Amino acid sequence: MNAQSLDGAQSQVPPPIAGEAPLIRIKDLKVYFDLGVRREIDQDRRGLGIGVSIIGSFVGRFIIVWLAVVLDVYPVNIWARILFSVIAFGIAFLISSAFALLILGQRIRRVVKAVDGVSLDIRRGETLGLVGESGCGKTTLGRAVLRLTEPTSGQIFFRGTDLAQLSNSVMREQRRHLQIIFQDPYASLNPRMTVSQIIGEPLETFHLARGLAKKKRVQELMEMVGLSARFLKRYPHEFSGGQRQRIGIARALAVDPAFIVADEPISALDVSIQAQIMNLLDRLRRQKNLTYLFISHDLRAIQHVSDRVAVMYLGKIVELADGKSISQNPLMPYTKALISAVPVPDPKIEAKRRRIVLEGDVPSPINTPRGCRFHTRCPYAVEVCSEIEPQLVQIKPNHFAACIRISPAEPDIDRVAPGAAPGLRDHPASARA
Ligand SMILES: Nc1ncnc2c1ncn2[C@@H]1O[C@H](COP(=O)(O)OP(=O)(O)O)[C@@H](O)[C@H]1O
Ligand code: SF4
Ligand SMILES: [Mg+2]
Repeated sequence: MNAQSLDGAQSQVPPPIAGEAPLIRIKDLKVYFDLGVRREIDQDRRGLGIGVSIIGSFVGRFIIVWLAVVLDVYPVNIWARILFSVIAFGIAFLISSAFALLILGQRIRRVVKAVDGVSLDIRRGETLGLVGESGCGKTTLGRAVLRLTEPTSGQIFFRGTDLAQLSNSVMREQRRHLQIIFQDPYASLNPRMTVSQIIGEPLETFHLARGLAKKKRVQELMEMVGLSARFLKRYPHEFSGGQRQRIGIARALAVDPAFIVADEPISALDVSIQAQIMNLLDRLRRQKNLTYLFISHDLRAIQHVSDRVAVMYLGKIVELADGKSISQNPLMPYTKALISAVPVPDPKIEAKRRRIVLEGDVPSPINTPRGCRFHTRCPYAVEVCSEIEPQLVQIKPNHFAACIRISPAEPDIDRVAPGAAPGLRDHPASARA
């Protein structure tokens, strides 16, 4: 089997199911947030900058105290002298730090690369789980697909139309088919509107129903999500968290969408309620032939609901496969670490399990590490990992991963010879970062 680059010229995205076009095709999507220009001292000269600030603080304090003595304003009382000295040191520190920044720093444009070149197919009728640590870009990706956040570049094909190219007014019409369910069901519902108004609002916006027809449709939607139609006139605060999420789901379903981004829909709920909401979403998907992008940082939830799982790290998809392969045979060290953090209910298996503990936090998406973005935390990293940026390639049938230390010939990183990076040979599109 040949490695197939997703970023090379041959194919940007995993192949769709034979004969069936994907509902959503994302191509090289980027979402960058420009935080403006700031003066900064780069990493190599940071030590020098700190040195200048500290030495400057002592020298400055000495000059201020000397001037105070010369001008005869130096306090007599010992405590007042200590206070004077501390204040003088603080002022000198601020001045010398500003001076160090001025002479050693340079103007740097700070750009958050929240989504940095994602290519992905979402197949009709599937639940594609998107998992990754907090801050890796899941929400931004989900919102960008719906153009609730404007992409910086890339394409988002929905039924063959590139949403990224549509004018705002045409996009508004398309929104009927593309809905979102939010994490916090309370914050996302207007507290001054009744349930009937909340669920009925999209019906009016898209001119789908009015008057009695609207009321009947709202009642139907409430029953569909397991809420009694008797609650029509109630306000969000009169409901529990799980019930509020059901209202959010009913509102998203009101316009008969084809695709729903469910952004951490269960994270704010009690564990006992989470399974109910996941089962509800799954039932509705089957009944109404919906397609979901299900976002969660919780791998257990993702494994439970997803047909395929995409693992995201610092703005990139690093592994993509069906749910079973991801949970039973993860290829990427990052995915292995996420899986190993999920407790197993059987105490015997749990006791024998090997844990991969990730050191430190996710690096800042402003200064993403060179080469493989995961190399700063990866227990399998070798020197070349900090130089070469791996591409997402097919390692096993329909199982894609972005790691230069594995290859279709040797997909198990634990069996790769120490220091070897066989993937380099099979990843022709791997580029110097
Ligand atoms: N509007 C914004 N302006 C600047 N940075 C943002 C904005 N929205 C998100 N980010 C940054 O983009 C990165 C990804 O955020 P997000 O998509 O919310 O991650 P996740 O959903 O995986 O937790 C984070 O570093 C976040 O701080
Ligand atoms: S390329 Fe290197 S750093 Fe990245 S996941 Fe593979 S082994 Fe780890
Ligand atoms: Mg999020």
